Amino acid sequence: MAPAVVRISAETIRARKGGVPIVCLTAYTYPVARLLDDHVDLLLVGDSVAMVLHGHKTTLGASLEMMIAHGQAVMRGSAKACVVVDMPVDSYETSVAQAVASARRIVEETGCQGVKLEGGVDVAGQIAAIVASGIPVMGHIGLQPQSVEKEGGYKIKGRTPENVAALIRDADAVEKAGAFSLVIEGTVETVAADLTRRIAIPTIGIGASSDCDGQILVIDDMIGLTVDRVPKFVKEYADLRSVVADAAARYAAEVRSRTFPGPGHVFSAKTGKDNA
Ligand code: KIV
Repeated sequence: MAPAVVRISAETIRARKGGVPIVCLTAYTYPVARLLDDHVDLLLVGDSVAMVLHGHKTTLGASLEMMIAHGQAVMRGSAKACVVVDMPVDSYETSVAQAVASARRIVEETGCQGVKLEGGVDVAGQIAAIVASGIPVMGHIGLQPQSVEKEGGYKIKGRTPENVAALIRDADAVEKAGAFSLVIEGTVETVAADLTRRIAIPTIGIGASSDCDGQILVIDDMIGLTVDRVPKFVKEYADLRSVVADAAARYAAEVRSRTFPGPGHVFSAKTGKDNA
């Protein structure tokens, strides 16, 4: 009998500070979660789903219901990875009570291992309260996509002394509030490396530094399926745009020439010979 698969907990991720780099990817669907589960330590059901799968211009298009539905799909498709679900905009900023209620809903309805929310000093109260309620929290500082409209674009962080000081305050606040790990996005490399050395919880970089304790990318970016602009920090490990376009072109040609369906794809009148 195959040994039972033990799911990686948030506590296990925390314990990997300074060790073998923590491999993280986003996932939003059942089949992709199944394909990634053997290869990663952590799957993030990011609010980037609003852009990647739903076609919104920013992550502000994500809702709690959307995050829960995709969280459930990813949990059905994974057995080993630590699954973290993003708290979407307007689900935690208003009050500590709102944040705890939203986090509880996400965990109860998906069964995920933790939640992630954006912000530092400004959301430290929310992080502390969610952690106190027994739910592990991953922080997210640096470039925060939920603030992109407020900030007038995707701005790299850590380029002025004032901003570096603010990042240090944010990282310290998230750690002190009890988060088990911290995403650092779109931040000057040396600053991200310094923050990694400074705090005792693992940092997960995206557009940050290879010195971070782990790395994350958006899955569709990483496999070359993103049809719009791909950020500079992305490395495409496959070119699924071409694979999909080529398959669609060959299918279209075969349908138009009546080559598909062929003899192997249709049913004979004889019963019991074949099943769908
Ligand atoms: O929503 C998301 O995909 C994220 C990652 C890019 C860290 O927050």
